[in-house]
Amino acid sequence: MTDTPKPRMTTTAGAPVASNSTSQTAGNRGPVLLQDYQLIEKLAHQNRERIPERVVHAKGWGAFGTFKVTNDITHLSAAKVFDTVGKTTEVLTRFSTVAGELGAADAERDVRGFSVKFYTEEGNWDIVGNNTPIFFIRDGIKFPDFIRTQKRHPKTNLRSPEAMFDFWAAQPESVHQVTILMSDRGIPVNPMHMHGYGSHTFSVWNKDGVRHWVKFHWRCQQPIRNYTNAEAQKIIGETRENYQEDLYNAIDEGRFPKWKLCIQAMPEEDALNVPYNPFDLTKVWPHSDYPLIEVGEMELNRNPENYFVYIENAAFSPSNVVPGIGFSPDKMLQARIFSYADAHRYRLGTHYEALPANAPKCPVHHYHKDGSMRFFTNDFGNPDAYYEPNQYGGPSADVSVQEPPLKISGDADRYDQLEADADYVQPRALFNLLPQDEKQRLFDNMAAAMGPCSEPVAERWLSVLAKVHPDYAAGVRASLKKDSDVNAISVTDETKVDTTE
Ligand code: NDP
Ligand code: HEM
Repeated sequence: MTDTPKPRMTTTAGAPVASNSTSQTAGNRGPVLLQDYQLIEKLAHQNRERIPERVVHAKGWGAFGTFKVTNDITHLSAAKVFDTVGKTTEVLTRFSTVAGELGAADAERDVRGFSVKFYTEEGNWDIVGNNTPIFFIRDGIKFPDFIRTQKRHPKTNLRSPEAMFDFWAAQPESVHQVTILMSDRGIPVNPMHMHGYGSHTFSVWNKDGVRHWVKFHWRCQQPIRNYTNAEAQKIIGETRENYQEDLYNAIDEGRFPKWKLCIQAMPEEDALNVPYNPFDLTKVWPHSDYPLIEVGEMELNRNPENYFVYIENAAFSPSNVVPGIGFSPDKMLQARIFSYADAHRYRLGTHYEALPANAPKCPVHHYHKDGSMRFFTNDFGNPDAYYEPNQYGGPSADVSVQEPPLKISGDADRYDQLEADADYVQPRALFNLLPQDEKQRLFDNMAAAMGPCSEPVAERWLSVLAKVHPDYAAGVRASLKKDSDVNAISVTDETKVDTTE
């Protein structure tokens, strides 16, 4: 207990409050008076405490930290965040699961989101990636359908493996990501033991306007550690919040987790010559072709003072880029450039970038006007400068930050992206590099996830796996058989018990 006098409690309008525990009533026994605006304010605020949860990636855990440049990449990017070795920039990171709602258990098998906001001197730069280098689909127009299969069935209100595998079997490009999801890396022990990836191809350009295509990699400096299905089940039985507990406590106790930021860099003209589409989000760039180049290190070292203010209100968007870093033609990235800011305007409000979690740490000079959260003046010292161009010295655009022109060609059309054979090459490389014991866990995890599927859906998915590798399909088929035999035995056992009774 502190000796300092407590501050006087007030209403939101600042008026002192006489009682916070008794309503104003007509007589000792009531009823309550409508004029008790303090009671009404209290109840009304409670009714408005929830905002819509994120439509995906609703469950998350986050922290502040520092990014430090450890290697000079100024020959590749003119971004100020990279301009000096040793330079530090404040970051906000949020990790998440994709499909679960706000109250989902942390240790569920799912892809993990890995978002980092760099508060740079030229605005916020966000890498909004996952713990996987690739994704299930390569065209954003399929994203709402894909997510529908991950969320609850409209009638049963349960998640539906039938829908998931029905969709994946019809989209063979998904087999690469599904393989990672069902492998050991599908349930990291917590966010501090997984890599992160920007996943998409982005671009960077240097001061001479030379462009490279890049992929961002967060290399975990803690050992990669994962739970098996059985371990995760046990954890969930004990706590649904183990990621929040682990991350919060590690930072609170000074055990700061670290990741190295690396890039793969592809000269602009190589994009026409590599044997895969370098803008296809279902493909990696092999390390042997484009080795990792170290850029810097991120350390998470500060828990947010308030979860809602800094993590729930955080608005990450792939559209947040800064001069020297840009987009690529990746169709998924292009869809995301629209989707996130749109989601934030709906979820948080028009001026969501002015919230403490999102407010840039550099001067902000725009002409957007009113709307929810317009609690800043933004009049640049002269209220007449509210349009552009103006004669009052209001802010104006700076052509020096213009991205170098990008050559594009082709007819405007809707191009079918079915790649068939090419879609199996990289999943095969992944399958081949897994040690035998991990392969077996992959088979078992996949079978456990497919167990409730109908036979036609299971068969269609097995035929996709067979195109990756015959051993893959055979392994999963054997695990399915093992599971169905076990289930058959347990049914018989239960029947026996019933009969005895
Ligand atoms: P490399 O042998 O150089 O790299 C293999 C990569 O696979 C390593 O980054 C490794 O991570 C990672 N890995 C190992 N097990 C798993 C798993 N269960 N789930 C996901 N990733 C895993 O080979 P290539 O670059 O030629 O790629 C071969 C295949 O590896 C690809 O087709 C792709 O499926 C996968 N991969 C490739 C990545 C890339 O950016 N090139 C990134 C991640 C995966 P670690 O270093 O921690 O062991
Ligand atoms: C969150 C859309 C693909 C990573 C979200 C949100 C939307 C969305 C609307 C919620 C944003 C919010 O309310 O704060 C899409 C669309 C996609 C797509 C339309 C495809 C076209 C991807 C991919 C990745 C990804 C490929 C990773 C490489 C994330 C992450 C979050 C997120 C990490 C959570 C951000 C946070 O921590 O707040 N996505 N997404 N998404 N998405 Fe995507």
